[in-house]
Amino acid sequence: MISNEQYVDSLYASDEKLDRVIKGLERHDMPQISIAEGYGRLLTLLVRMSGASRLLEIGALGGYSGICLARGLRQGGRLLSLELLQPYAEVAKQHVTEAGFGDYVDYLVGDAKESLAKLKEEGRRFDFFFVDADKEGYPVYLDYALQLAEPGAIIVADNILLRGRTTDVNKQGPSVLAVRSFNERIATDDRLESTILPGYDGLAIARVKG
Ligand SMILES: C[S@@+](CC[C@H](N)C(=O)[O-])C[C@H]1O[C@@H](n2cnc3c(N)ncnc32)[C@H](O)[C@@H]1O
Repeated sequence: MISNEQYVDSLYASDEKLDRVIKGLERHDMPQISIAEGYGRLLTLLVRMSGASRLLEIGALGGYSGICLARGLRQGGRLLSLELLQPYAEVAKQHVTEAGFGDYVDYLVGDAKESLAKLKEEGRRFDFFFVDADKEGYPVYLDYALQLAEPGAIIVADNILLRGRTTDVNKQGPSVLAVRSFNERIATDDRLESTILPGYDGLAIARVKG
């Protein structure tokens, strides 16, 4: 018996560029915590369908989701990716470049909260956000996304089920509490229209009204 996710993934041909990222993560001794392949495909579709051209990613790792996001970009579009660790940003840049998107992607290294404060100060605006860094930061990342968003911007966040911890009442750690609060806000904030997909490790998708 295979899972619904395994069945769906088995319908698709292997993806050489993304496979290269997985192998690169292994080679560099980095964690295999890239976005699930089905949600990677969804990122590409959401960028393409929304026509977004100024993308902000929070949490680059090895560039897997960066490639998925960049694939949906129209001409002239750009992705800015925030990553805490310089070596990870370098690996991500290498993979994104090998995939043919190096000219459209920039990396800002450091704690995303500081980078976001700087972007706000500079008056930068984005029409697509992908939140996928430390889970404790999710509520703060949502606050910043709302402040940096153009009307109609899309906000996507990965791992909102925390591999079962979100729904386990016995789990009360800081990441779990932060993600529960994030999910509740995604579902109830009047400024957003949204849905939450429970497949893989859960994905929140919201649109800023306006
Ligand atoms: C789940 S991984 C990102 C996976 C990536 N989005 C993908 O799907 O290919 C989380 C990343 O967030 C980074 N990160 C963790 N805390 C951070 C912070 N405070 N600011 C910026 N990046 C952070 C980690 O170093 C790691 O690379």
